[in-house]
Amino acid sequence: MKEKMANKQFDERVDRTGTNSVKWDYREEIFGRSDVLPMWVADSDWPTSRSVIDAIIERAEHGVFGYTKPGEETDELVVNWWEKRYDWEVDPSWIVYTNGVVPTLSMVIDSFARPGEGVVLQPPVYYPFFTSVERGGSRVLNNELKLENGKYKMDYENLRELCGQNDGSIPSSPPPAMMVICNPHNPVGRVWRKEELELLADICLEKDVLMVSDDIHAEFIYEGHSYSPLASLSDEIAHNSITLTSPSKAFNTAGLPASVAIIPDETVRNRFEVARNKVLKKPSVFGLEALKAAYRDGEKWLGEQLAYLQENMEFSYSFVKEQIPLVKPIKPEGTTLLWLDCRPLGLTKGELEDLVVNEARVGLDFGHWFGPGGDGFVRLNYACPRETLEEGLERISRAVISLT
Ligand SMILES: Cc1ncc(COP(=O)(O)O)c(C=O)c1O
Repeated sequence: MKEKMANKQFDERVDRTGTNSVKWDYREEIFGRSDVLPMWVADSDWPTSRSVIDAIIERAEHGVFGYTKPGEETDELVVNWWEKRYDWEVDPSWIVYTNGVVPTLSMVIDSFARPGEGVVLQPPVYYPFFTSVERGGSRVLNNELKLENGKYKMDYENLRELCGQNDGSIPSSPPPAMMVICNPHNPVGRVWRKEELELLADICLEKDVLMVSDDIHAEFIYEGHSYSPLASLSDEIAHNSITLTSPSKAFNTAGLPASVAIIPDETVRNRFEVARNKVLKKPSVFGLEALKAAYRDGEKWLGEQLAYLQENMEFSYSFVKEQIPLVKPIKPEGTTLLWLDCRPLGLTKGELEDLVVNEARVGLDFGHWFGPGGDGFVRLNYACPRETLEEGLERISRAVISLT
């Protein structure tokens, strides 16, 4: 009952138009019409926690916004977050601050993979991973996830092949420079189990492939699932890893970029820092305040939000299963994203886009944006008030019915 009361705050619909919101104010540019209900980009439609808002107001009132840098207090908050939530003991010296996970990932790829070298991705996956690899001139090596009985799995056999077999034969190309994973995985919603990560890490360690784990969705884990940071699995794995994260998904502060790279290995970290100092900024004054307040005081709010999201997830999953049986939902274990298999509708790429945008008038991410294995799917972000979610799902349902 208490939880239900607390969750009322997430029922409120906030008008985000006119705030330069990518999700709401760029609908015409992205979907060609401004009347779609936007359920695409992974930010929520909720105000962040009161603690974050108050911290920003207080800092704004100070009025002096000169050069700023995170200090020991910030390190302590980051260390505590990982320790108490994920049972991972992070040494403060491992932490490097940046201003966004995607720019950090691009920088890591540029500095640890030479042009022409391979970077393994596991599509369908968050599309900026592809641009991050390609822009710097390295090569995407796809280790496509396998969908088996409604559940996505990693393809270890294919990965072994990409990394070069151990059968004594001369490999046709050198092993990849690195592998980028996403945990929990956007868009398919898997929270990788320890054993799955260990198997993956064994292959990468054997072939000296650096592992980068984008864990920005780690705070969204549903009942019955448990998130393990890759680097927490063993010292050896930790020394072959870079973990990237930010409170910006959990606290809806993507407009206040502040992110964290956790790099246990000193040599890797030094190389990272040299590159970071050349091309990236540290968090801004307000990004830093948001990060500190989130990690210091945000847990209660986060728990309330997660309870609401769990209900939204169950609701949207059941709605699609029952009301739109031709579309097959993949049940998320984490993230705020529902991955919908629309292949049974038998539509071409253009027809599916037309159905979603012009018939349903909903803005979704299209599966082909996410690389191999994405065709015929769409991604719906359910981090919004229930009423908005219901409206979006009803619109999709009506459009699909109109096909028959
Ligand atoms: C897996 C993943 N990584 C990174 C980001 C964006 O990170 P940032 O805004 O810090 O660049 C997103 C946003 O949706 C995401 O889903």
